[in-house]
Amino acid sequence: MRRLVSETTLRPRQLILPMFVAEGLEQPRPIASMPGVVQHTRDTLRKAAVDAVNAGVGGLMLFGIPAKRDAEGSGGVDEKGILNVALRDLRAELGDATVLMADTCLDEFTDHGHCGVLDADGDVDNDATLRIYAEMAVAQAEAGAHVLGPSGMMDGQVGVIRRALDEVGHSSTAILAYASKFASAFYGPFREAADCAPSFGDRSAYQMDPPNAREALAEITSDIDEGADAVMVKPAGPYLDVLARARERFDLPLAAYQVSGEYAALHAAADRGWLDLRRAALESLTGIARAGADVIVTYFALDAAAWLAER
Ligand code: PBG
Repeated sequence: MRRLVSETTLRPRQLILPMFVAEGLEQPRPIASMPGVVQHTRDTLRKAAVDAVNAGVGGLMLFGIPAKRDAEGSGGVDEKGILNVALRDLRAELGDATVLMADTCLDEFTDHGHCGVLDADGDVDNDATLRIYAEMAVAQAEAGAHVLGPSGMMDGQVGVIRRALDEVGHSSTAILAYASKFASAFYGPFREAADCAPSFGDRSAYQMDPPNAREALAEITSDIDEGADAVMVKPAGPYLDVLARARERFDLPLAAYQVSGEYAALHAAADRGWLDLRRAALESLTGIARAGADVIVTYFALDAAAWLAER
């Protein structure tokens, strides 16, 4: 009877697995705060990506960790930069068997760890950053990304990236806009995973303030006006109200990112025997889908695909 009347069905094909690839690694490197998640070598990334696709996961979101960083984050633009070579590897391996997505942001590539370049006062320079995002986006599209995920929350980033792609003929490369991304404590473990904690200050000058839901909807509206193909709310769990309101207001595909801290918290509690990991993970993913997400970016993607197949 429950199955007959169930209102929400979670499917592996709506899950996106975030993956990390690090330059110059010989062995995959585990991330202590995120059990089961590693920084991959180029080789192990390829194999893990094939496994994820075979498990039915709908897409892969790739983050690169360079061996060297600089003030401009030039490793993100360089066609030989780790993210771009790994995109080429995966596109060659997988073709169009999955939706290949790239993080279009500088924090993994800058030596100061901010999502953009800095001005003379040490503040993030929005417009100078946009020029680099445009180059980075073109490099990622040429490397084979189907979808770009600008996650830096610079004003105007979607429009600038859309124009840059169209000018060089990449009009079919899509943009998943991190349209309302909050300045969240739940990104903590990611910063270990991508080794990108800001060396000073925080991201509150460009990421959203947690109390503001109407402002989040305004951010989504402007990204849609600038040409976003899909929009995202991030993090997911603490912002289900934003997700539900966005679902009512917008008809584009809606994504939610269940971030590193949400994943780490469930694992930590389960490790102590305080939660059943599988039930808690599937319940939180179901909640995100019920709130209105079509697509969920989650580190549980592979496990969830396996758990759902067993149901
Ligand atoms: C920025 C970016 C971050 C995450 C995804 N893209 C870090 C940040 O904004 O500080 C966090 C994702 C997570 O916590 O899982 N490139």
